[in-house]
Amino acid sequence: MNHLNPDTLRFILESAILAPSADNQHRVRFKLDQNAIRVTYTEPALPPPGGYKRALVLMSLGALVENLTIAASRFGIQAVTALYPDPNQPDWVLQTHLQPDQAVVDPLWQSISLRHTNRRVFFHGPQMSEAERGELDAAANAFPACQLLWLDDPAKRNHALRLMRLAETERFRTRLLHDELFSAIRFEAGWRETCPEGLPPGALGVEPPLRPIFALLRHWPAMRLANLLGAHYMLGWRACDLPCRLAPHLGLLAVKNSDDQSVYDVGRTFQRVWLAATSQGRVLQPMPASAIFALEGASVEGIPIATQHSLADGWKSSLGEAIPLMLFRTGFAKPLAVAAGRAGVEAYADTENG
Ligand SMILES: Cc1cc2nc3c(=O)[nH]c(=O)nc-3n(C[C@H](O)[C@H](O)[C@H](O)COP(=O)(O)O)c2cc1C
Repeated sequence: MNHLNPDTLRFILESAILAPSADNQHRVRFKLDQNAIRVTYTEPALPPPGGYKRALVLMSLGALVENLTIAASRFGIQAVTALYPDPNQPDWVLQTHLQPDQAVVDPLWQSISLRHTNRRVFFHGPQMSEAERGELDAAANAFPACQLLWLDDPAKRNHALRLMRLAETERFRTRLLHDELFSAIRFEAGWRETCPEGLPPGALGVEPPLRPIFALLRHWPAMRLANLLGAHYMLGWRACDLPCRLAPHLGLLAVKNSDDQSVYDVGRTFQRVWLAATSQGRVLQPMPASAIFALEGASVEGIPIATQHSLADGWKSSLGEAIPLMLFRTGFAKPLAVAAGRAGVEAYADTENG
């Protein structure tokens, strides 16, 4: 590539990797090919269509691409990305064409390195002004197929919280979900250090007196025993109900269709909204479980069918035909002492394909 110096490319790729991903794992590799960045998926295949696992992957890819696009705009470079550029090569998930001198600088690039998931229980106000809400709405409008809804009215919030509690409780009650949740946590990092992939315990916002109990509950027999005393209800309440009740705002991104492109676009939209919130000094926590466990394919992936139905029916009663995909709370809070880390950009180089 003639127009891109190595420092510019490094900044763009580092920014891409700074994007959020479910469980802090970007399962991708980058390869520069003339004026394009080719992105391959590191697993043999994407999870099957229609389920929650694929939704998590696609939203994470969307967030990564949005960061990449915004970072490129800093240098006037327009980044145009296609999802699945070649249907015959399923591991080739993205192709980004870089066009120099074509883009207007997007000021959101300044928030990329400042953004982190914040899991403190208490987010305080003040609430957004009309102008601030307008900024977040404008960030979401870049992808008109995605709808940004605010669930701040008490009736809407209560309805959403009932569904969120149901889903979060399931994460501690169902063995498969429990294993998925705890296997992403790198307990070996301790409570004070970060790690380049996965979730460092210190970023989880667990209060110090509760840490030994939380660590013990990673063992399924301990969790199962504790559930006899209702621990899953307690944890579901602590994980989402309480923090969402206390937060100034609860947001939701929904789409009309749950095809791959729409889900990926939600990831892009979500990242824009998150960066816009960050530029206002706000923090945010994604909480998509109640939305993605409602997807039809989720029951095949281990979500109990009764739970999937209750969630799907519950969302339908409040949203009609709109499909919820990402919920989040936002407000103000001090950053946690530990944030999820990232490996250096070299770790994401595609060495196999040249
Ligand atoms: C699609 C998606 C789903 C996520 N789901 C959750 C979640 O359910 N709960 C949560 O606390 N964080 C969630 N996160 C946040 C990630 O755990 C976080 O982005 C990742 O650990 C990297 O940390 P960082 O955001 O501080 O860079 C999600 C992020 C994405 C992109």
